[in-house]
Amino acid sequence: VTTTLIEKKPVEAMRVERRPGGVAMLVLDVPGQPHNTLSTDLLAEFESKTDALLSDPGVAAIVVCSGKPDGFIAGADLKVLEKMTREDAAELSRRGNELLGRVASAKKPVVAAVHGPALGGGLEVALACHYILATDHSSTVLALPEVMLGLLPAGGGTQRLPRRVGLVAALPMLLTGKRLRARAALRAGLVDQLTTPGGLHDTAARAAALLASGKLRRRKRKRPLWQRLAGTAPARGMVLRRAREEVMRKTRGLYPAPLAILECVETGLARGERAGFQCEARLFGDLVVSPEASSLVRMFHWNNELKKETTGVAPRPVKRVGVLGAGFMGAGIASVSVGKWPVVLRDISDDVLASAAKSVHEGLHKQQRSGSISLAERDQRWSRLLLTNDVEALRGCDLVIEAVFENLELKRKVLAEAEERLAPEAVFASNTSALPIGEIARDARHPERVLGMHYFSPVPKMPLLEIVAGKRTSNEAIETARAVGIDQGKTVIVVRDGPGFYTSRILAPFLNEATLMLAEGARIEDVDRALLDFGFPVGPIALIDEVGIDVGAHVAKDLAELFAARGGAPSDALPKLLEAGFRGRKNGKGFYTYPPEKKRGKKEPNAEVYALLGGGERRDLPAQDVRDRAILQMVNEAMYCLGEGILERPRDGDVGAVFGLGFPPFLGGPFRYVDQRGAAAVVARMEELAARHGPRFQPAPVLAELARTGKRFYA
Ligand SMILES: NC(=O)c1ccc[n+]([C@@H]2O[C@H](COP(=O)([O-])OP(=O)(O)OC[C@H]3O[C@@H](n4cnc5c(N)ncnc54)[C@H](O)[C@@H]3O)[C@@H](O)[C@H]2O)c1
Repeated sequence: VTTTLIEKKPVEAMRVERRPGGVAMLVLDVPGQPHNTLSTDLLAEFESKTDALLSDPGVAAIVVCSGKPDGFIAGADLKVLEKMTREDAAELSRRGNELLGRVASAKKPVVAAVHGPALGGGLEVALACHYILATDHSSTVLALPEVMLGLLPAGGGTQRLPRRVGLVAALPMLLTGKRLRARAALRAGLVDQLTTPGGLHDTAARAAALLASGKLRRRKRKRPLWQRLAGTAPARGMVLRRAREEVMRKTRGLYPAPLAILECVETGLARGERAGFQCEARLFGDLVVSPEASSLVRMFHWNNELKKETTGVAPRPVKRVGVLGAGFMGAGIASVSVGKWPVVLRDISDDVLASAAKSVHEGLHKQQRSGSISLAERDQRWSRLLLTNDVEALRGCDLVIEAVFENLELKRKVLAEAEERLAPEAVFASNTSALPIGEIARDARHPERVLGMHYFSPVPKMPLLEIVAGKRTSNEAIETARAVGIDQGKTVIVVRDGPGFYTSRILAPFLNEATLMLAEGARIEDVDRALLDFGFPVGPIALIDEVGIDVGAHVAKDLAELFAARGGAPSDALPKLLEAGFRGRKNGKGFYTYPPEKKRGKKEPNAEVYALLGGGERRDLPAQDVRDRAILQMVNEAMYCLGEGILERPRDGDVGAVFGLGFPPFLGGPFRYVDQRGAAAVVARMEELAARHGPRFQPAPVLAELARTGKRFYA
């Protein structure tokens, strides 16, 4: 689903080309835009043009294709959707379904010719056609990503996709937005035939003519027996029930969209397509005006907006990237870099280099298997990786990212080593979790080129890159790092320097509060559950285990001074546990115990921890208190970050918390959360908590001010 606004349509967005054999090519080419996006105007034009072609006796078959070099239809116009009322949105769905229904029930064959992304409404147009031809190109992807925006496919997608590929294959696409590349789409029976990009339109015209003359028939792909059984009426109920359980397990009922999608699918299968379409229209209307969709759509816009953000200074060209430290983070950074640049990966340990090589190779292999890169690309990328323990290999790098141990002296040392070998304008970035950049750059020859590039673990998966600009960092260095981050596929925010910058700084009091509650007698699983129920993907206690108790203790120590000055209550849980040999998941011994590798089984809360932390007999703390204490610590710290200028604007704080820390996306981040809950209500709750638990709950000045003036962060 992509966005672009075309309220008035001065020029036609479609043209008709005639081919021999009575084939009419309906070419979509929205003027002045890189992609075709669906709008109400385009819909109207599509309607009049297809009606004319369907009733034209000189036309035997129609091909729907794109005039854009690299995309079919990228979905609907979100900016228009955002302004719609519930009724308007439902009406849009009804109209779209009526039109696509005419295409689907036409006597003349209609062929969709797909190259590049066919997303959302774009795929729904193709699904209404009788035959789908797609190019076997890595840019060709078919998906219904509406669910990720809190919406549902309202152009017949919930009805036609299950009918075309079967319930079992359709559900992951509908419920998680799963994308299929060309070959996978062919295997699933979503696409009928593959071709090359150059021959797409000709092949489609030929297929259309053959379909019209009866010489070609769409062959329904034979699905495996179990999938066919799953589609039969008796089994269907069970499949849908399972799917609903899975949705509830994953979303805890916090996201209305997947549940609405299931309702549409179920209605269509039980009562027919017409009823299914009606259900789509009604529930689409509800979702379009829901706060969840509004938060998710906003995130989507911000993500696009951040790709274009700049200080106005041009980035320096980067031709070679150096990475120092091939541990967990360094290997990940190398992985996301080899797609673009030759990478020098340096570590002092050969064993670490060997396992980094393995993990980079596995990553590339996985991408190749999924069809996102070709075999040749995989090998080319692999050949770009230089593994070394020779620091001289850094010569010629335009950007060096260090991911050595979290130790200030070591970081200063590797910076000095690099500076001796780099050109004066090359950029040096630290992936430190919490050390201030100004401290790392204290003795630098060129402090203007030193900044933070804070990645999240696991690097290939986590979407955020937090760039930390020190006081002396140049805009050129910032832009160079930003351009690299965007090329690595990251959503990039730029924040100011300080202990823990933004993300680690707001995470620390959140985790601290969780451990304080354990010391008051709360149960590990209760604390985690309260935050899972709020919408976090991992509970805070489980997160400490994942990050490592050693790392957590380190970060907490780096930030302790900052919080102490405001009357914070640093928990002594982590240093105590560390001393007793608890390191978290990495040594199988943390707040949870972990079954030995290769053995199946679940992690279990580790009662040994309680003896070390105190708190006596375990007792019930009200879930609301647990939730609010942890959340409001995080939210309040975000407010301080805005007040102190660590964040330039609330948007960056919301994006950072959602993409970096898993703050529930449907709530839109700490700032949007305050807007939704109401600043005055948040302040009142914090004052109540401050009276009970101490001054760390005093609202930050930014928050207090907002409550007093009745303003909001966002209009
Ligand atoms: N693990 C995380 O979740 C995470 C997240 C964000 C940031 N970070 C930060 O990233 C950095 C690395 O963390 P990690 O988890 O990858 O640690 P790690 O222990 O897995 O890797 C560190 C590597 O640095 C190597 N090294 C030490 N001295 C070196 C030198 N002089 N030259 C080259 N290599 C050297 C070590 O051999 C080791 O392989 C730390 O600053 C950490 O705070 C970690």
